[in-house]
Amino acid sequence: MAHIPTSRGGTPWKASVLTLFPEMFPGPLGVSLVGQALKAGLWALDLHQIRDFGIGRHRAVDDTPAGGGAGMVMRADVLAAAIDHAREADDLPLLYMSPRGAPLTQARARALSEGPGVMILAGRFEGVDERLIAARGVTEVSIGDYVLSGGELAAMVLIDACVRLIPGVLGAEESLAQESFEDELLEYPQYTKPRTWEGLSTPEVLMSGDHQKIAAWRRAEAERLTRERRPDLWAAREKQR
Ligand code: ADE
Repeated sequence: MAHIPTSRGGTPWKASVLTLFPEMFPGPLGVSLVGQALKAGLWALDLHQIRDFGIGRHRAVDDTPAGGGAGMVMRADVLAAAIDHAREADDLPLLYMSPRGAPLTQARARALSEGPGVMILAGRFEGVDERLIAARGVTEVSIGDYVLSGGELAAMVLIDACVRLIPGVLGAEESLAQESFEDELLEYPQYTKPRTWEGLSTPEVLMSGDHQKIAAWRRAEAERLTRERRPDLWAAREKQR
């Protein structure tokens, strides 16, 4: 591919995913702006089937937990073989999607989007053998305080959050300038036509044509919503100032 407009010398940002369910991909990442960007070569998706590195005739990837208990644990030797194989092609930061990880934030998505890409281990079962985490320098990332049945959906969330920040992925209309979290505020309310709907009118200021007044109103609304809905974000922001 010749003229790919990336900020990294022609090599597109890459997501390399290790999973037992590669057929889940690209899934939602294959449609809309992120999907078009994938087809256009603005980013690339590599999938690695962990089962290919499984043990024995049944290609076992998991075993019972040491010390007993419910469920199964993914084997360190199997995962290490899969990771080492994937790393022969790409040297990317290695993330493991896990509710135990550091919360995914807009700042982290931005930092990752500015790098060469990510390698993501999407786990299943009760988790992975702890020895793998340290031995392969894995960073655990959570997408929220709830438990999914596997890391694939979480990986897709992280990839989507990164890819839309790659220059050229969003058009001018979907500008990032004003959006939630980019300046640590929730987004202000939006309105469109018709001007009156079910007896409800669009705020007068938005029809005034006074761009300074509109910007001030939007700012005040963003601050009000953040204070009301996310006192945690508001407090963190106030502390930073
Ligand atoms: N895997 C299962 N639950 C998860 C979560 N909340 N975040 C990231 N990965 C997960």
